[in-house]
Amino acid sequence: MRKPIIAGNWKLFKNALEAIELVTILKREFCDVEGVDIVVCPVFVVLRDVYECLMESNIGVGAQDLYWEDSGAFTGEVSAPLIKDAGAQYVIIGHSERRQFFGETNQTVNKKIKAALKHNLTPIICVGEVLAEREAGQTMDVLKKQCEESLAGLTNEEMVKCVIAYEPVWAIGTGKTATPAQAEEAHKYIRGLLVKQFSEDVGQSVRIQYGGSVKPDNIKELMAQPDVDGALVGGASLKSDSFSAIVKGAIPA
Ligand code: 13P
Repeated sequence: MRKPIIAGNWKLFKNALEAIELVTILKREFCDVEGVDIVVCPVFVVLRDVYECLMESNIGVGAQDLYWEDSGAFTGEVSAPLIKDAGAQYVIIGHSERRQFFGETNQTVNKKIKAALKHNLTPIICVGEVLAEREAGQTMDVLKKQCEESLAGLTNEEMVKCVIAYEPVWAIGTGKTATPAQAEEAHKYIRGLLVKQFSEDVGQSVRIQYGGSVKPDNIKELMAQPDVDGALVGGASLKSDSFSAIVKGAIPA
């Protein structure tokens, strides 16, 4: 049985004050919640503030990216040891916005995953097709290439520590969610790839989140799919009431 995991990707939103305000409410909201892993991913500069506020809680903290070298002359970058030092346990890697706007490739994603694992951070690895690829019937080929290249060289022991997020790019921030059937089809396919690339055990153990316009009113039908193990939530993670409803909607019956 895979434990559901709901993560909020705050993207480039919330300064320190706003972040603390939000997690103070979430901490109270979730104090009795069990059976689901909860994570919030603020911008780098407020990671430590958020972590300190959540120290005695059941909410984990994640970064939204990292650089693969530990240190050096890499102006503007942030490394795994620094993220870890600020209190993060998770890190989002290969988000489609990074692929689209900042030149992220499967090869850089691969290096980042290895750096995260080396420092005991749980990578949340994002994959997903753009609209033109879906319309051209290439979704599964795109997922296959992203998984094979991004996860190349990982051992089975490393792979089971990772979380995958399937985020169809056309569903991000558009209000257009994949149908539960579309999500399940992609998740099942990704799980099959993991079985082939690693092992049956690994495929069955790795949690696969869905991301793209997840809201309180669609979380339940998404979570009802056998291969959907959680959600990576953008917009709806910025408000306590919607994020709380999503987390509660993901608790197994
Ligand atoms: P939205 O939930 O705003 O569509 O964003 C999804 C996302 O990109 C999470 O990483």
